[in-house]
Amino acid sequence: MKTLVFLSIVALSSAKPSLEKEFLHFLAERDILLQDPPQNTTDISQPEQISTAAPRADDRFFTCPLKCVCQVRVVQCSDAGLTSVPADIPKGTVMLDLQNNKIKEIKEGDLKNLPSLYALYLVNNRITKIHPKAFRSIKHLKLLYLSWNLLPQIPTNLPTSLLELRIDDNKIKKIQKGSFKGMKFLHVLEISGNPFDTTDIEPGAFDGVLRLIYIRMSEGKLSSVPKNLPSNLYELNLDHNRISSIEREDFRRYKDLYRLDLSYNQIKKIENGSLAYLPNLRQIHLENNAVKKVPASVRNLKYLQTLYLHNNNISKIEVDDFCPKELEIKKLHYSGISLYGNPVKHWEIQPASFRCVSGAHGVQLGNFKK
Ligand SMILES: *[C@@H]1O[C@H](CO)[C@@H](O)[C@H](O)[C@H]1NC(C)=O
Ligand SMILES: *[C@@H]1O[C@H](CO)[C@@H](O)[C@H](O)[C@H]1NC(C)=O
Ligand SMILES: *[C@@H]1O[C@H](CO)[C@@H](O)[C@H](O)[C@H]1NC(C)=O
Repeated sequence: MKTLVFLSIVALSSAKPSLEKEFLHFLAERDILLQDPPQNTTDISQPEQISTAAPRADDRFFTCPLKCVCQVRVVQCSDAGLTSVPADIPKGTVMLDLQNNKIKEIKEGDLKNLPSLYALYLVNNRITKIHPKAFRSIKHLKLLYLSWNLLPQIPTNLPTSLLELRIDDNKIKKIQKGSFKGMKFLHVLEISGNPFDTTDIEPGAFDGVLRLIYIRMSEGKLSSVPKNLPSNLYELNLDHNRISSIEREDFRRYKDLYRLDLSYNQIKKIENGSLAYLPNLRQIHLENNAVKKVPASVRNLKYLQTLYLHNNNISKIEVDDFCPKELEIKKLHYSGISLYGNPVKHWEIQPASFRCVSGAHGVQLGNFKK
């Protein structure tokens, strides 16, 4: 039975292949379609089963809303000029796609009676408000995509079952305390392109969030690194902001970080030791800033493999800038360091500076390399 639904979803021929692929990927990744239904749980470690039993009469898609396409339990109403959420969405709907419409508001009753909804796509509408009770009866929503709307804040009372929330390119000026309250399963948050500064992230904004491992807070107005994000982050993207310096304690909380993106800011100064709080880093993006020297403590990051430093203001490279004095301290060699677009004269760099880089093309000096 489960396989049946899986195959039927795969077989959907649709104008929205990428979205479906994403959804399938989501289902497959979490084994939602492959696992036995857990008896009694709301824990994502055992995702609830999408019921694949033969639909009861009221679940059938006799009532596909106007301008929508309904197949299996997927309802697609994108690019349909809708100004509100259609009524009579079938009760068994698992995925509802309302992208690229002109919806202005999600009203209290718009999403009632959708107990199986797993994914809701509202990207690129004109939503300015979501009723605080709109999600009241939604218990299993995992993916909520609200990017490209006009929301002035994180909507209140979002479903606590969310795994992924995308709310890029809205008008969010503040992340209030308790914005994500109860979202203990939230894994991924994308909140780029909103006009809040670092100080607009209130203390306690992320209270209750326990498993967030990925944040994208790019293309905004951040003037410094936010210090009160969840501590178990694995990937932090802060590129294309207005950060001008990195203070010593900025990364103190983020000991698990694997990948850090600070590219396209205005960073001039990186305080000694600030990166030493990140012993697990594999990749740092610092390109397109105004950094004057290779950050101290880079050489002590045992697992760092990729370091992007191109298009900065580095004029001198010391022999121990990248590599520890004792080679065995470095557990993984660099696979790439980019340095082009800096004023350093490549002929003045001692080759030994790159003794812990593997591969012939591990260092990109760009225009300076002749
Ligand atoms: C099911 O969950 C409810 C509340 O979450 C709990 O009270 C009940 O004991 C659970 N039943 C079983 C069989 O685990
Ligand atoms: C930072 O480190 C560099 C070299 O590692 C050192 O020369 C400099 O004095 C240090 N600065 C401070 C403020 O500790
Ligand atoms: C680069 O550094 C020099 C001094 O070291 C400074 O005069 C210049 O303004 C810097 N350029 C940029 C783009 O920050």
